[in-house]
Amino acid sequence: MQDVEKYCPYGIRLSENPNRNKIKFFNNENPVWLEIGFGSGEHLFFQAHNNPTVNFIGCEPYINGVATLLGKLQSQNLKNVIIYPGDVRDLMDVMDEQTLDQVFLLYPDPWPKRRHHKRRFVSKAFLDPLIPLIKTGGELYIATDIGDYVRQTLLSIRAYDNLLWTAEGPKSWRVPWQNWVKTRYERKAIAAGRRSYYLTFRKF
Ligand SMILES: C[S@@+](CC[C@H](N)C(=O)[O-])C[C@H]1O[C@@H](n2cnc3c(N)ncnc32)[C@H](O)[C@@H]1O
Repeated sequence: MQDVEKYCPYGIRLSENPNRNKIKFFNNENPVWLEIGFGSGEHLFFQAHNNPTVNFIGCEPYINGVATLLGKLQSQNLKNVIIYPGDVRDLMDVMDEQTLDQVFLLYPDPWPKRRHHKRRFVSKAFLDPLIPLIKTGGELYIATDIGDYVRQTLLSIRAYDNLLWTAEGPKSWRVPWQNWVKTRYERKAIAAGRRSYYLTFRKF
């Protein structure tokens, strides 16, 4: 990981922080949006390009995806993105509470086998550290094409009495968010004939 961090010019170097002290990620007061598991970075690049006054943190251990995103960021000279080329749990450890205005979790790994469901991102093990990092009034966006993932998400989120599912009706969560770009995984889902679910939760 240290080598990857060294060669990632937009990266943060957690290996230089062995005591896991809290990190100040940006030197301005702009909103901070986090994308967890950005894959090849289509959505993160789109948002960073369209929202120059937002600070972005992207997290992805799939190194080919990191390289693809880096190329795009450099070609447009975008400076409002920090990449962590690893597991988001490392990042959550060093982040202050009430840091994040928006969090995107787009097509998390489905782990279809029942005995693997506990590995899904939307579970107590991931949500317990994540939710405090979201600002009051901030939002968590989750997209998936797996109906059972929706079920597990809604059940898991019920444990947090400071999160509200903002669905306005039975159809609203089948419609993509405004300012949306299809990710690579979403294109694959569409090609395979699957429809997506778009869940929004607000912290209060
Ligand atoms: C199904 S892919 C979706 C990628 C992308 N969001 C998309 O929609 O095309 C899930 C991604 O989550 C990443 N991932 C899995 N566990 C992760 C973790 N603990 N921290 C950060 N990313 C993770 C994987 O490497 C993978 O790229």
